[in-house]
Order: sequence, then C-alpha cells, then structure tokens
Amino acid sequence: MSAQQVTYTFESRKEADTDRLGQLLSGYLQPGTVITLDGDLGAGKTRFSQGFARAIGIAEHVNSPTFTIIKEYEGDHLPFYHMDMYRISQEEADELGLEDYFYGTGVSLIEWSSLIADLLPPDRLAITISLMEDQSRVFHLTPYGLPYEIWCLQMKENGHLQ
Ligand SMILES: Nc1ncnc2c1ncn2[C@@H]1O[C@H](COP(=O)(O)OP(=O)(O)O)[C@@H](O)[C@H]1O
Ligand SMILES: [Mg+2]
Repeated sequence: MSAQQVTYTFESRKEADTDRLGQLLSGYLQPGTVITLDGDLGAGKTRFSQGFARAIGIAEHVNSPTFTIIKEYEGDHLPFYHMDMYRISQEEADELGLEDYFYGTGVSLIEWSSLIADLLPPDRLAITISLMEDQSRVFHLTPYGLPYEIWCLQMKENGHLQ
C-alpha cells in the first residue's frame, strides 16, 4: 500500500517571494538532496534555481542548462548540480549516470524532471509551479520520503507553507 501524498503550497507574488522559498529550503539540505522542478515554460523554474543557488552561497550567475543538461557549482557547504531535461532523449538520459549525482555528496535540482520520471530516486521533494492569471506563481510541494515530509511539516508549522 502506498502512502497518501500530501501537497503543500507556497504563493509567490513577486520574485523576492520565490527567493525566500529558496532560502527556506536551503536550511534543510543534505548530501543527496533531490528537488524536482516542473511547470510550463516561463513558470519560474530557472528563476527559483537562481535564488536557491544564491541562498547556498553560489556567487556565479546560474542560467538555464538546457543545452548542457547538467551544470555543477560549488556552494558554501555542498556541491550543487543544476539540471534541465527539456531536450533530453531517453538514451541520453540513461547515459548521464544520474545515480552518481542523486546519491552523491551534492544537491540536485532538476528542471523538467517529468521527462525522466523513471530515473528519479524514490525520495525527493517534487515542486510544480503554476503561473496564475495575475502573474503570481503557486509552488506545489509534494514530499516523497520521510526527510522531505519533515521539511514540509516544519515549514508549514512555521507558517511558510499552506
Ligand atoms: N514570482 C515570480 N517567481 C519567479 N519568476 C517570476 C516571478 N514573477 C515574475 N517572474 C519572471 O518570470 C520568468 C520565469 O522564467 P524562468 O524562470 O526562466 O521560467 P522556466 O525556467 O520555468 O521556463 C522570469 O523572467 C522571472 O523574472
Ligand atoms: Mg528554465
């Protein structure tokens, strides 16, 4: 029997709100943390990644790794692997050696993770971003696995998630 999935929400009315979510999450990271980012083009996946990278001490500008698929950065405490699966084929995805990233020493953030759904680890924080008519963004956070469930429960208790 599979556990029932709970989804939490975070509303972002402006880019600073998106940065604040990245800051909140940066407090929980461990080696092997995996966060997936899905949502339409322009929803704000890369913009979230930029705030998140800043929050973990990366001074370099982080842009969309659509053509490189994976870019690696050194954060203050952990390596950061920024991935974009938008243009990947199944064969290419199989050859990336994703387990080395997912179960390695760093934090993986994967844009368009739905395109490699079969290759994702069972434990992860899934974020889907919806762009609303008023240009605000709603981040839907679904934790898979106990560590991520605890992150979300704590953020909710602290009034950051709904
Ligand atoms: N609250 C917000 N959060 C994130 N991005 C926002 C927000 N409001 C406006 N934007 C803008 O929306 C665009 C999102 O683009 P991007 O992050 O590249 O999308 P994606 O990677 O999902 O295709 C950026 O130009 C960003 O400046
Ligand atoms: Mg992008």
